[in-house]
Amino acid sequence: MKVLLLGGTGEARALAAALHPEVEVISSLAGRVPDPALPVGPVRIGGFGGVDGMRQWLVAERVDAVVDATHPFAATITAHAAQVCAELGLPYLILARPAWAPGSAIVVGSDTEAAETVTANGYSRVFLTTGRSGTRAFKDVDAWFLIRAVTPPDPDTLPADHDLLLSRGPYDYDGELALLREHRIDALVTKNSGGAMTEPKLRAAEAAGVPVVMVDRPPLPPGVHTVTTVDEAAGWVRVRR
Ligand SMILES: NC(=O)c1ccc[n+]([C@@H]2O[C@H](COP(=O)([O-])OP(=O)(O)OC[C@H]3O[C@@H](n4cnc5c(N)ncnc54)[C@H](OP(=O)(O)O)[C@@H]3O)[C@@H](O)[C@H]2O)c1
Repeated sequence: MKVLLLGGTGEARALAAALHPEVEVISSLAGRVPDPALPVGPVRIGGFGGVDGMRQWLVAERVDAVVDATHPFAATITAHAAQVCAELGLPYLILARPAWAPGSAIVVGSDTEAAETVTANGYSRVFLTTGRSGTRAFKDVDAWFLIRAVTPPDPDTLPADHDLLLSRGPYDYDGELALLREHRIDALVTKNSGGAMTEPKLRAAEAAGVPVVMVDRPPLPPGVHTVTTVDEAAGWVRVRR
């Protein structure tokens, strides 16, 4: 049995490790990060070339099933995979880590709405953690930003007044609290990524009385089987062997 595992997340690496070498798993990465953490087993890197490219690749490689363990905000690749698997009649599973409970966060539907919320509330020192592709909406917002990302955003997408903090989690509560205090942050902007690696910022913000603006997840494609843990995903693959 041959499985395409769409990755770029810790869960995808854990799933590759859980199935290797029992199942032939080819992990796929987008190629955005210059030095990605690689999963065990075969890896392909780079886009497929849209829906048509993915369809051709799956047929040529004689793939039997697809597990989509991409980040919850990677909506384009997920839409492509759901469409192509439905067309080809391939079993398709989404492994999506549970979302965070928003608590008292201001929940918004997009980066643009998050930027509007920052302006409307007059926040002036914002910890922006929406990632490399999540800075453009804040470009013209009149505030100072502490921008944390794994790889540098395109300079054209950055607000004028900012500091850039390049780092890769996991983060801990004490460190996050110290960061909020050191930079006198008055709002945290985050996606609802879920997961333990970046969750301490939420607890730190709550403790420091810093309001949180949380971008809600894009919807999953309708009718797709979804699990939330690596064990469940491994079980789904094993019963298809
Ligand atoms: N979005 C986030 O916040 C975030 C955070 C952490 C990690 N990641 C990881 O970073 C990668 C890119 O995320 P994104 O939000 O830019 O994706 P996206 O917007 O959903 O996808 C854009 C395009 O990138 C290519 N692509 C994305 N994921 C791929 C994969 N695993 N393997 C091969 N091609 C892939 C596809 O190109 P083609 O159309 O040419 O096939 C896709 O159409 C994903 O693997 C995701 O798991 C994303």
